[in-house]
Amino acid sequence: MLKFYFILLIGFAIPTVIQCDITNLEGFLSLVKQNQSIDYPVGFMSQSNYDVVKRYFPQNIKRIFFQNKTELLDAIDKDVVIAGITTGRLAEDLEPRYHVFSSLIVSPQAMLLAPSYHERTAVYGLKNQSSSDLFVALNAAITDVQRIGSDETLLNQNNLTNLIRAYTCRQDSQLPVPNRNETTGFLREILLEKKTLLIGGIGPVDWGTHDGNYHLDQPVGFYPKLLESIVQQMGKLQGSDGVPYSDNIAFKRKYYANTSALLKDLLDSKIHATDVYLLVDGSYNGTGESCSNDTQCLSGESCKDGICTYPKEPRYLHFLTTCTTASRDSKFITKKTSGTIKTQTDTPRETPKTRWIGFVLVFAALFGSIFIILLILVRRKVPYRVQHTLRGGFGKFARLQEETEPPMDGLDAFEDQIVQSPRDNTNSTT
Ligand SMILES: *[C@@H]1O[C@H](CO)[C@@H](O)[C@H](O)[C@H]1NC(C)=O
Ligand SMILES: *[C@@H]1O[C@H](CO)[C@@H](O)[C@H](O)[C@H]1NC(C)=O
Ligand SMILES: *[C@@H]1O[C@H](CO)[C@@H](O)[C@H](O)[C@H]1NC(C)=O
Ligand SMILES: *[C@@H]1O[C@H](CO)[C@@H](O)[C@H](O)[C@H]1NC(C)=O
Ligand SMILES: *[C@@H]1O[C@H](CO)[C@@H](O)[C@H](O)[C@H]1NC(C)=O
Ligand SMILES: *[C@@H]1O[C@H](CO)[C@@H](O)[C@H](O)[C@H]1NC(C)=O
Ligand SMILES: *[C@@H]1O[C@H](CO)[C@@H](O)[C@H](O)[C@H]1NC(C)=O
Ligand SMILES: *[C@@H]1O[C@H](CO)[C@@H](O)[C@H](O)[C@H]1NC(C)=O
Repeated sequence: MLKFYFILLIGFAIPTVIQCDITNLEGFLSLVKQNQSIDYPVGFMSQSNYDVVKRYFPQNIKRIFFQNKTELLDAIDKDVVIAGITTGRLAEDLEPRYHVFSSLIVSPQAMLLAPSYHERTAVYGLKNQSSSDLFVALNAAITDVQRIGSDETLLNQNNLTNLIRAYTCRQDSQLPVPNRNETTGFLREILLEKKTLLIGGIGPVDWGTHDGNYHLDQPVGFYPKLLESIVQQMGKLQGSDGVPYSDNIAFKRKYYANTSALLKDLLDSKIHATDVYLLVDGSYNGTGESCSNDTQCLSGESCKDGICTYPKEPRYLHFLTTCTTASRDSKFITKKTSGTIKTQTDTPRETPKTRWIGFVLVFAALFGSIFIILLILVRRKVPYRVQHTLRGGFGKFARLQEETEPPMDGLDAFEDQIVQSPRDNTNSTT
């Protein structure tokens, strides 16, 4: 008997799905599952955007890559793709025209440093220099920024309060660090010889006023200011002797066209650390430079098929990875077509008549479902449980179904090359 109700319920639900927009992950996945013989087109900005979400995707997804966010949004508008996926955040002014929802996959961000040479585990490591003490100091500075709450202040100031936090080292006191006059390697050069702390980043790029605009001489936004507070906090650190590290650590940003070039200079000790936004969830498989023999490659890398290669491994393990500084989640972007008040000025594709039919169907389905649920509740006298309808489906996303979308304020464009491992983008972007 119960089965019969569910069949009825599904009968009501299907027209709803067809008619309604894709507003959450559950909706997206159930639409794609409806007909296995259709390849549903989905837009990406890079291969790595796909890599992040592919484990949840059915086979019948057709990947379409776009050069930039403008093109991606255009394809969504024209129904060329049913959804776009990007780690980037949508500009506030785009929000009324699209649904934006999380993939529920969060990629932590951190600073990367070059490890010290080790004959078995890090043949590519630094031989003449050491970043060990700098690593310890940066971790202490990052946890202090989080302990004091400077990062929260920056999130508030830059309207990024809806960022998903993913901490790995939060503590309620300063982490132990070596005494100032006992520091070694890069850190000693920076503190005692007053050398400039060199931080490598991608760009310079403008990710918008919230995330950061690096085109300016004094970059503004969350990420630039986060690095500044970490460096400032590093100066305040003290070892057991109670002597503060420095009242003014000079630092400089160095920019690279792509992650391969950035990570190569890191391993070459031309920079001390990367900027705070490197996604640790990427992989590293060599600098990707062209070569004709091994000696032209970094120590430990070999020349294969004309490019410098290292056996693929996670960035997180290849480099010294600091405590997480921030995080990003992959977002789905879908078109708003019906059921909501439109604020945009361009004329909607569908005629008012079809929209009214849509409304009627939605309401019929809604009231039908409520009626049946009530009926079941009355008949069975047991609480209705969501997972019944989801059995064998996407159980882990069940809670999404009941959640309303968070307000999408203050989002802007954060381009995607940061996710990419070296040469990920050869056949897609830039
Ligand atoms: C699935 O799509 C194909 C191609 O559009 C169509 O021929 C087929 O009837 C559809 N199957 C179902 C169950 O809707
Ligand atoms: C996006 O790419 C298209 C095609 O490659 C180009 O015409 C357009 O100028 C680009 N837009 C931006 C904002 O870069
Ligand atoms: C490391 O130091 C040795 C000896 O001091 C020197 O010969 C070598 O060129 C240095 N290597 C680098 C990469 O600086
Ligand atoms: C953040 O939002 C407030 C009010 O909503 C606004 O006044 C302020 O300019 C915004 N800040 C940024 C950096 O967009
Ligand atoms: C560091 O400074 C303290 C005094 O501030 C001194 O006692 C100690 O010997 C110094 N250590 C080194 C390695 O110079
Ligand atoms: C590798 O290339 C360098 C020049 O780029 C050359 O000097 C060296 O002899 C080459 N080594 C081998 C083993 O071919
Ligand atoms: C990365 O940038 C470097 C230097 O700008 C360039 O030589 C290299 O071809 C670029 N690599 C990729 C994969 O775009
Ligand atoms: C490194 O990884 C990239 C992307 O996964 C791939 O395109 C490239 O061929 C790999 N390089 C080597 C030498 O395997």
